[in-house]
Amino acid sequence: MEIIKGRRAIRKYQEKDVPEESLDRILESVRWAPSWNNTQCWEVIVVRDHAQKERLQDVMPKINPAWKALVQAPVVLALCGKLATSGYYMGQATTKLGDWFMFDLGIATQNICLMAHDLGLGTVVIGLFDHDRVGEALGVPEGYELVSLIPVGYPTKDSAAPKRREISEFTHYDKF
Ligand SMILES: Cc1cc2nc3c(=O)[nH]c(=O)nc-3n(C[C@H](O)[C@H](O)[C@H](O)COP(=O)(O)O)c2cc1C
Repeated sequence: MEIIKGRRAIRKYQEKDVPEESLDRILESVRWAPSWNNTQCWEVIVVRDHAQKERLQDVMPKINPAWKALVQAPVVLALCGKLATSGYYMGQATTKLGDWFMFDLGIATQNICLMAHDLGLGTVVIGLFDHDRVGEALGVPEGYELVSLIPVGYPTKDSAAPKRREISEFTHYDKF
């Protein structure tokens, strides 16, 4: 609970680099995420190159509160999903919800953020950007979709937790 409650969206990072061992641990946490029928549709691009981070920033709207974080963080992870696998059987979506890649990537994302936090690292999930343009800059191939960018680095300071809904506001018993 401490790890779950203590994790925050971090948008300011120290210059200190992310050790390779920590990055390995984070990638290992993705590896062990559950997924639809164990399809493991995730692909992770590790961006360390400064010029590449600037290219991503160039095609991201400046209004995004995480705009600066993208270049300041020593590492940016780009999470992509292979399409038409999660939630599919014999090439057909098996539920009315279609492709479950967003769901599986969401779980993998939480593993990343919690693992990073446990290692003293901060993260922020970035979803607001032009996915086609950023995907192109990252060379994401056909059949895959870029979903989120996750800067990773040592936080400069602790930030306050935004307010949460009470349990009673979202929990229903026996019926919605
Ligand atoms: C799917 C998703 C997309 C997000 N996109 C952005 C984003 O584009 N820019 C940003 O600054 N924060 C983004 N966030 C971070 C949220 O604003 C943040 O998690 C939320 O306000 C709760 O704060 P906390 O993470 O510190 O608990 C995103 C979070 C999620 C889960």
